[in-house]
Amino acid sequence: MGETMSTLAFNFEEIAPRELKPALYQLDGISRASVEAHYKLYQGYVNKRNEILGKLADVDTASANQVYSELRALKVDLSFAIGGIKNHEIYFEHLGGSGGAADGQVAKLIERDFGSFDAWRTDLKATGMAGRGWAWTAYDWDEGRLFNYVGDAQNTFPIWNATPLVALDVYEHAYFIDYQTDRASYIDAFMANLDWDVVNGWVEQYQIPTR
Ligand SMILES: [Fe+2]
Repeated sequence: MGETMSTLAFNFEEIAPRELKPALYQLDGISRASVEAHYKLYQGYVNKRNEILGKLADVDTASANQVYSELRALKVDLSFAIGGIKNHEIYFEHLGGSGGAADGQVAKLIERDFGSFDAWRTDLKATGMAGRGWAWTAYDWDEGRLFNYVGDAQNTFPIWNATPLVALDVYEHAYFIDYQTDRASYIDAFMANLDWDVVNGWVEQYQIPTR
């Protein structure tokens, strides 16, 4: 075996943005213009992710001392792009429902870990008011429970080994068109459009233990 150049030229595949389901254009209290604002950003994150992985494939880590700062910048930007993709894919996927109280397995989880649906809702809303970019309900496999986590940007502050089930986008683009500075009303609208069947599908898919 000859000497191999130490590069990051791994296999990666370009991805394409997922299409929006039609229900996203008929949300109650969240306009088509707002959904399009998210989608445009989401497309940008997908493009950015592809572009950065292409650049990383060309970085020669054998001469890393010359490229540390470049490598750092690329990898930080990559985390932002991937966060923007994952966060928005959850957001798009679980909207388009009729909101209301959770049912099925996720209702059991919420009741077990928050005491009641209202307590979960109140805490997620407060977390969304407190954060700068996102609030998530996620199941932490190490803690063995749901928790509402706060995020300031696409790449802050995810928790290792936790699976997000609800992703509340509270970036300004999420609500300014429809509610100006009234973020609280936007969060109410978000809750009213949640599709609990989708969330229950994830609970099943990821085999999150409900007891
Ligand atoms: Fe967004």
